[in-house]
Amino acid sequence: MITGASSGIGRSLALVLAARGAKVGLVARRAETLDELVKEIQSKGGNSVALPADVQDEKAISLAADHLREHFGAIDVLVANAGVGTTTDAAELQPSGVAPVININVIGAANSALAVLPEMLARGQGHLVVISSLAAYRGLPKSAAYCASKAAVSAFFESLRLDLEPKGIDVTIIHPGFIKTPLTSGRDAKMPFLMELDDAVEKIVGAIEKRKRSYAFPWQLASLARAGMIMPNWLYDWISRRNSFRE
Ligand SMILES: NC(=O)c1ccc[n+]([C@@H]2O[C@H](COP(=O)([O-])OP(=O)(O)OC[C@H]3O[C@@H](n4cnc5c(N)ncnc54)[C@H](OP(=O)(O)O)[C@@H]3O)[C@@H](O)[C@H]2O)c1
Repeated sequence: MITGASSGIGRSLALVLAARGAKVGLVARRAETLDELVKEIQSKGGNSVALPADVQDEKAISLAADHLREHFGAIDVLVANAGVGTTTDAAELQPSGVAPVININVIGAANSALAVLPEMLARGQGHLVVISSLAAYRGLPKSAAYCASKAAVSAFFESLRLDLEPKGIDVTIIHPGFIKTPLTSGRDAKMPFLMELDDAVEKIVGAIEKRKRSYAFPWQLASLARAGMIMPNWLYDWISRRNSFRE
């Protein structure tokens, strides 16, 4: 079950996993786009089902998981990928700009995990994957809501991992850098080590198949982000203010 399957990383992941023989449940709000993806996967010999739902809606996402089980049986892997990004200077930030980012990126991912978890626990097996971001590591300029959402979702799934691994359920947290998708396409700011979608998805699939606990890429930007985590605040602030990734 892949959330955010109508575009970007989720769509590409669905195509790659279906080509490898996975039966894929496609969750997003745009039903028509999902229907087109189902046809595309079918034309290539794959199996998928469209599950239009808003991840913020706990009941809708739970029903989507039920429909998927009716079609294809037990859900082996969840990829909680649905997400939104915003660019807002703190001086212009409004509550109405914060809540949707937190609701989709954090509550939406939690709703998705909790929709599949009871059945995974009953079977004593399963795999929860979340697409977080390198933006989870520290606050970035003009990204308060986004960084907060990714830090929260990483911590949420890390906590799940501690509880669930002994029960047979693996948890993988993916921390990507910049990837060419509709989410980043409108931006003029420089995005160091910007990756092609296909290359990024190949790396994500590799991490899922290896059931890694966490995976950060590309290595150049991941190394810089890790260095940022151990820097003193004055140095981190000095570097970050001079290197905003958002216009
Ligand atoms: N691209 C990057 O550089 C990058 C880097 C790090 C992390 N990420 C993360 O990767 C994930 C995917 O991003 P992307 O770049 O592929 O973005 P994208 O092309 O904009 O795709 C976002 C997907 O999320 C879905 N979505 C958004 N709100 C939803 C909701 N309320 N309910 C259900 N689905 C919803 C969208 O579908 P509908 O609009 O049809 O609902 C769409 O399929 C996000 O979590 C993002 O934060 C991206």
